[in-house]
Amino acid sequence: MKCQICLKELDEQSDPGYHSNCIKRLFGDPKVPTRLKYPRKEFREEVRKAVKEGRMSISGVQPKAQMTLESPVGPLVVTKSGGEYILKPTPEDYPCAAINEHLSMQMAKVAGFDVPECGLLTFADTDEQAYVIRRFDRIGDEKLHHEDMMQVFNFNNTNSDAKYDAATYLDVLNKCTEIAGLGVALECFSRLIFNYLTGNDDFHLKNISVMHGKTIKLTQMYDCLNSEIYSGNLDGSLALSMTGNDEKLPYYGTRLNGFYALPDFLTLAEMARIKEKPARRSIARIVQLQNNFIEMVYVSNLDENLKEKYSAIIKQRVELLSLEIS
Ligand SMILES: Nc1ncnc2c1ncn2[C@@H]1O[C@H](COP(=O)(O)OP(=O)(O)O)[C@@H](O)[C@H]1O
Ligand SMILES: [Mg+2]
Ligand SMILES: [Zn+2]
Repeated sequence: MKCQICLKELDEQSDPGYHSNCIKRLFGDPKVPTRLKYPRKEFREEVRKAVKEGRMSISGVQPKAQMTLESPVGPLVVTKSGGEYILKPTPEDYPCAAINEHLSMQMAKVAGFDVPECGLLTFADTDEQAYVIRRFDRIGDEKLHHEDMMQVFNFNNTNSDAKYDAATYLDVLNKCTEIAGLGVALECFSRLIFNYLTGNDDFHLKNISVMHGKTIKLTQMYDCLNSEIYSGNLDGSLALSMTGNDEKLPYYGTRLNGFYALPDFLTLAEMARIKEKPARRSIARIVQLQNNFIEMVYVSNLDENLKEKYSAIIKQRVELLSLEIS
């Protein structure tokens, strides 16, 4: 087994399953226990209660809890507010989702993206793993002001499909340029490429956020997982339309197989006034890591059949993202 924080080789001195340095990076102290004090069922109950009482300040689709350290050496406990961590257990209908998300986030880190510290923890009574991530929106008690793309666009949140159809990736990139500059748009474009390569077809308007400060930039990445390994049909769809006129795209619009390929992404970049050179460079930077990514899939704790699916999707996407139309 590899370290359940960095996914790299363990040495003999380490605790079973973790580098103590990695625990320290995530929690501030190497003695914080990586086994939660909650049995699996009890934890589910805690989260259900928190959601029901409406004291969840973190939204999203899957049940999750805010957590804090009871003391500098732990343990990690559920809290009503002010938690520095979010814990996401695996939902019943998405096997290995916690492992999947941790794996995808570590891949993002390897690819040089800005990713919060995160890891996998076990419950008190089972070795089932839950995903923990450090919050990027607070420093101590200070709350940092951030907005997701629904808020940036001032879109009404009442219709739950709006996060998929109220804007296109082109709109998002243009908005990034407008409020934060072309560099931020390029960063967002790179994240789109990464999510496509790793089979995340849920990169919607609430999974893209900006942080307000002296300058506006993207927040650290979150909610990256290979959602296509659960859908059965590897249909290559994206969460948002690319341009609003995708049937005009050079590959997607002519092959009609539901997949996007390099020429489509380059067209998107061009329409967003991102220059071809940096666009190609950002795609190449991610594609060239394919073997590292596939190796990470195989050292992860994903079920064997999910490993096969995950690596098949990476290979398929690498091919699509390498395809030139003359
Ligand atoms: N590390 C984090 N720090 C701060 N806020 C976060 C973090 N991760 C997620 N969030 C916020 O919580 C919301 C739900 O988390 P997300 O991981 O997207 O869960 P879901 O899978 O339910 O959509 C996000 O839309 C984002 O606003
Ligand atoms: Mg989300
Ligand atoms: Zn480690």
